[in-house]
Amino acid sequence: MLVPHSPRPFRLTFVCLGNICRSPAAQAVMQALVQARKVADRFEIDSAGTASYHLGKLPDSRMISAGVKRGLKLTSLAKAITAEHVAGRELVLAMDRENLINIRRITKQDSPNVRSLSDYLDETWPRDVPDPYYGGDAGFEYVLDMLEAACPRILDDCLRSPSFLEMP
Ligand code: 4NP
Repeated sequence: MLVPHSPRPFRLTFVCLGNICRSPAAQAVMQALVQARKVADRFEIDSAGTASYHLGKLPDSRMISAGVKRGLKLTSLAKAITAEHVAGRELVLAMDRENLINIRRITKQDSPNVRSLSDYLDETWPRDVPDPYYGGDAGFEYVLDMLEAACPRILDDCLRSPSFLEMP
C-alpha cells in the first residue's frame, strides 16, 4: 500500500526572557499566520524563555488582553529554553540582543539556526523587541505591532529556506 508522504514539520521557537510576554505573543501571531496561509500542518511553533522565573505560567494577562483585541489566542505555558531544544529546531528567534547572548550561554555555542527577530525587519524598527513587562499598555500594543510586521517576512523566508524545501 502506498502511504502518502507527510514531511516533518518545520520547527520554529521564539525566545524572550520570561516567556510570558513577547515570545508567547510571537508564537500566537505566527500560529494565526500559518493557519491563515493554510500551512499550519507544516509548522511546529512554540516559545521559551532564557530565565525560569515564571515556569508553567500562562502569558501575562496584559499580553493576553492585547492579543484578544487582535483576535489572537495566547495559551502557551512558560518554559525555559535548553541546549537540546535549540538543537532540535530549524529556527530559533530571539526577541532582543540580551536573549541572543543568553541563548549562546545556554547552548555554549553560536548556533547558525539562532537569529534575531529584528533580522526580518527594516531599520524603521528597533533592533530589540522592547520588554513591555514593567511598562504600560502601549508597550504591549507596540510588541504586537512589531511582531505583526516581522512574522509575514519570517514565514516567507521559512517557506523559501532549504531546510523547509528539503524536509524529509
Ligand atoms: P518577556 O517579559 O521576556 O517578554 O516574557 C518579561 C516577563 C517577566 C519579567 C521580565 C520580562 N520578569 O522580570 O519577571
